[in-house]
Amino acid sequence: MRFNALRRNTKCASFRRAKRRGISLFAAATILLFCAGCRQDMHVQPRYNPFDPTDFFPDGQSARTPVAGTVSRGELASGPQELMYTGKVNGAVVDEFPFPVTREVLERGRERFNIYCEPCHGMTGDGDGMIVQRGFRHPPSLHSDHLRSAPAGHFFDVISNGFGAMYPYGYRIVPRDRWAIVSYIRALQLSRQASINDVPEAEREKLRGESE
Ligand code: HEC
Repeated sequence: MRFNALRRNTKCASFRRAKRRGISLFAAATILLFCAGCRQDMHVQPRYNPFDPTDFFPDGQSARTPVAGTVSRGELASGPQELMYTGKVNGAVVDEFPFPVTREVLERGRERFNIYCEPCHGMTGDGDGMIVQRGFRHPPSLHSDHLRSAPAGHFFDVISNGFGAMYPYGYRIVPRDRWAIVSYIRALQLSRQASINDVPEAEREKLRGESE
């Protein structure tokens, strides 16, 4: 009898303890919720939806006029600048350069090629760069028939937008430098295909002398 009463008492005590724990958990959860509510206030900040009116600026508009000379990306992809920024004319890739290829352009192209492309394509364009030797996918040789007959605009497009496993370089290399790289690829390709007749007369003797 006394044993049972004792058991009942212990039972009651542990029930009360559990109840107390429950209440403090509930209190903690409420406080947490309250805090989360406070944080929410800081997430909701005063802002304007596009074209909302405002009395902050004298002209009553929340949208600001872009500064003079601002060019939107879409505008460059068509019109007179299309070739320079896409390698295309009327949406089709062409075998043209948007500016004359000078020695200076070629040298800039060689420098940029050796920075951005050589790690995979190799210095000569054979596709055996260090990253490839360490396991990256083997790119095609830039001397393949397919790439020798590809239009200049194709190379510009591949550099800008990437190709298969090759990621895009459009946001790392400015358009003028992309074209310089394309001109240097053409020089690399020519270096394996040129005949003595492609060499200016004055230089031919020099070359003959070197080969002897
Ligand atoms: C990280 C390695 C890597 C770098 C750096 C790289 N490429 Fe590539 N490139 C590849 C691979 C791999 C392929 C083949 C992709 C495929 O077929 O999936 C490729 C393909 C190409 C092709 C062939 C497209 C075709 O029509 O078959 C061209 C042209 C090319 N790259 C040019 C360049 C130029 C120019 C640069 C420098 C601006 C460059 N690549 C930088 C790895 C690279």
